[in-house]
Amino acid sequence: MTASADSPASSASGNTLAGRHILFIGGGNMATAMISGLVESGMPATQITVVEPVAAARQSLADKNGVAAFPDAASIGEDRQFGAIVLAVKPQQAAAALNACQGLLRRHPDTVLISIAAGLGVELLARMSSGHRRIVRAMPNTPSLIGAGISGLFAPDDAPPGDRAIAHAILASTGQVVSVDREDLIDTVTAVSGSGPAYAFYLMEAMIEAGISGGLDAAAARELALQTVKGAALLALASDEPPEVLRARVTSPAGTTAAAVAVLEQRQVKAGICEAVRAAAARSKELSDEAKAAQASAS
Ligand SMILES: NC(=O)c1ccc[n+]([C@@H]2O[C@H](COP(=O)([O-])OP(=O)(O)OC[C@H]3O[C@@H](n4cnc5c(N)ncnc54)[C@H](OP(=O)(O)O)[C@@H]3O)[C@@H](O)[C@H]2O)c1
Repeated sequence: MTASADSPASSASGNTLAGRHILFIGGGNMATAMISGLVESGMPATQITVVEPVAAARQSLADKNGVAAFPDAASIGEDRQFGAIVLAVKPQQAAAALNACQGLLRRHPDTVLISIAAGLGVELLARMSSGHRRIVRAMPNTPSLIGAGISGLFAPDDAPPGDRAIAHAILASTGQVVSVDREDLIDTVTAVSGSGPAYAFYLMEAMIEAGISGGLDAAAARELALQTVKGAALLALASDEPPEVLRARVTSPAGTTAAAVAVLEQRQVKAGICEAVRAAAARSKELSDEAKAAQASAS
């Protein structure tokens, strides 16, 4: 099903992006995270352009990262050529944003459009962009904001390998990248890692509450819970063993962890989490279908 679980951010992501100018449509949270990652990994700010309607956001991007930011695509000189375009607006803003970039997209028929807009499929994005054919999709997650993200990436079968490589290199500026070979798997990626930080925060909330009810002060409970989740993730990442083996290793018979795991099993917590992830995937598909229906009734 999935292919590569790939490299972290590195030296402007190797040669793939060398000399390539990137346009971001939307300069919000995710775009800012990606731009910061690209600049920190060595891409010259002069290679990055942003279209962002909010003046304060444009100013902040210019101040923080030194990139050129314009209020709309029409303000960008027609001589500017882009080697990748990243659509980084909210899904409900995508149709208008792409519509406003029609001229620019027409001037860039061979430039890959990388969409991080949740729930918008390749076919729908092609329609929204009046037939642009070079489209790939990605699903990042919020740890991308601190360079510790993971993104799912889908490129259609007929996408040139170069498009996939460019998207991969851009996404790698905010963390790891996992490629999937079917578009519907983006719904599963959304459910596992897109929404996933919320499941980890939920676990942290519960551990903090339990720590406080066991007599710890709030700060100590928070530190113990968060550092434990972080340490467990780092240990699992550093180990060749699967999580169930690592768990068994800290679960001595009749010990404290065994007492806790018995309650988790009795309450069927694992089954509950699996059901929750399936619900997220189903909702992701529903949102895609709703976006398709909305676009069909608008056109
Ligand atoms: N944040 C996440 O953790 C996360 C994770 C996975 C996927 N995503 C996806 O990433 C996408 C972006 O999320 P985000 O959190 O970065 O959103 P965001 O902070 O709201 O950023 C979107 C930006 O695009 C601007 N914009 C609106 N219309 C535009 C147009 N016509 N042309 C150019 N820019 C326009 C928005 O301006 P206004 O403020 O005026 O609206 C806003 O500054 C979403 O589709 C989201 O589903 C986000």
